[in-house]
Order: sequence, then structure tokens, then C-alpha cells
Amino acid sequence: MKQGWEAGLGRADVTPRTAWLNRRQIMAGLGGLALAGPGQARMVASPSPYSTDAAPNSLEDITNYNNFYEFGFNKTDPAALAHRLTTDPWSVEIDGLVERPGSYGLADILGFAPLEERIYRFRCVEAWSMVIPWTGLPLAALLDRVGVAPAAQYVAFASVARPDEMPGVAAKLLDWPYREGLRLDEAMHPLTLLATGLYGEALPKQNGAPIRLVVPWKYGFKSAKSIVRITLTDTQPMSTWQAMQPKEYGFYANVNPEVDHPRWSQASERRIGEGFFAERVDTVKFNGYGDLVAGLYAGQDLAADY
Ligand code: MTE
Repeated sequence: MKQGWEAGLGRADVTPRTAWLNRRQIMAGLGGLALAGPGQARMVASPSPYSTDAAPNSLEDITNYNNFYEFGFNKTDPAALAHRLTTDPWSVEIDGLVERPGSYGLADILGFAPLEERIYRFRCVEAWSMVIPWTGLPLAALLDRVGVAPAAQYVAFASVARPDEMPGVAAKLLDWPYREGLRLDEAMHPLTLLATGLYGEALPKQNGAPIRLVVPWKYGFKSAKSIVRITLTDTQPMSTWQAMQPKEYGFYANVNPEVDHPRWSQASERRIGEGFFAERVDTVKFNGYGDLVAGLYAGQDLAADY
């Protein structure tokens, strides 16, 4: 049974990392069997060779320091306000250059591939970083199921935008819906994940429930949250940040310590959870995933294609 998704995770469910590690070991011993306690949403997922060995941030950190402008500009706004978002029922419209367009329910999507646990480094363009244990399925599994038409070259994503549930949408903080895009080869890359869970449980709303993108070698803004539309296209899609500040945020947004943001250095990063005065660590090109993804950009000037 690979569909272990249920809704709901509150602050009260915060799992200390050690407890979670023990549970992972137990689950590994049980061959991936779900250990669902009363009222607990569990996602059954197998470990992945793509996971980093680095210790994940606490659930507390990951769910209380967020960028989700649909709920406001402050890092704590999503944790305070995202509970207003209705995430069940949920469907994703898949359209454009695709063989089987349509509205796909979340349960359908979760059935497209076995869920995996992927512990990824996550680097925000604002020069902070975390390590996050996602649960999800490769975006490629969904694209294979819906059938990419030969003319498609890019994939565009749009997030949900509901003024009645999202105060930042009502206040028109940005030009909604939040939009992002990937080149088709980036979208098909095995690291590119549709995340539906965090720490083995359903994705908290502030992290983009019920389904979001995670592209670990790119700055975090590429990883659109609460996705409702995926469009296959032959033209490079315009993303929200690129449309607002094209000199500051490019389409590619690969993590790159050699290319500074016009207003700050990208050479190092602050690890969330280590205290504000902890030493910064050097940023690694492609966020450390270069051996897997550098080939996608062979022959490209990444200072021009930032
Ligand atoms: N997706 C939507 N829909 N709205 C947003 O404001 N912020 C982006 C990205 N995806 C954002 C979004 C940015 S800037 C970052 S760094 C990550 O989400 C933050 O993800 P996290 O809060 O789960 O760490």
C-alpha cells in the first residue's frame, strides 16, 4: 500500500529528529510497513540513494521559517496563517503539449509511482539553507504517465491563489498565481521531486500542501508550493520573480557561489537552526548536486543564464 496520504499536521505533532530516526529504523526493519498511530497521518516511503547524509533540520525549523508570500512576507506568517488553506479535495490541471490532459486528483498522482523519502539540501536565494526530509515522487513519473508531446520543451507550474483563504493574495502582494518553470530535461531529471510529505507525514500547509515542487540544485524560489496547474509548452515560461525583478532572478536560478545576487553575495550561506551567530558555510555549486546535474548545462554560460 503506497498511498499513505491523509491530511493534517499541526504544531502539536512536532517530531524530534531522534524519535524520527528511530522510527525510520523501525520502518526499515518492517520493510516499509506503515506505523499509523491514532490521528497520525503517515506516508509510507522507501529511502532513496539520492538522499544526503547530512542531518535534517528539526520539523520545528522547517515549519516555522518559511517563504510563502500568499500568506504574507514574514517568515512566520505561513505557520500562523496557512491553516486557512483548504487542501482536500485537491486536483492538478495538466494541460498544454501533453497526450492525456485533464484534471488529476491528488490520489491519482500519488499512485503514479511509489513514494520515496528524499533528504535534500535546500538553499534559498536569500542565502540561508536547511536539510529537509521530503516524501514524494519524481516529477518524471507524472510526466511519463500524462505523456509529454514531442513538441514540449518546458514545464510551467502555477500555485493555488485564493484570496478568501490567503491574505497575501487578497492584499495583492505579488502578481498571482505564483508561477515557476523548468526546462523539460530539468523537469525529467530524477532529482526533481513532487513532494507530498515531510518527516514521513503529510506535507504541512506552510510548506506547500498538498503537493509542491522540489528542485534541490536550484534556489528555493523555483520550488513552487501548493501546485494546481502543470503546463507543457514549447516556450520558456515566465516565472513570478523573473517577471518582477529580471536582473535579480533569472529563469535558471541554479545555486551558484560564483554568481552573486546584485544585492548580496551567494558565496556562503547561513544554516537555519545553528543560531544567528553560527559560522556561515561555503555555498557549493548546484547546491552540491553537480555530479548529477552539471551535464544539463554543458556549454551554457551560467553567469548569463543565471
Ligand atoms: N511557492 C509559492 N507558491 N509561494 C511562495 O511564496 N516561495 C518560494 C518557494 N515556493 C514560494 C513558493 C521560496 S522564495 C522558497 S525559499 C521556498 O518556497 C520556501 O520553501 P519552504 O518554506 O518550504 O522552506
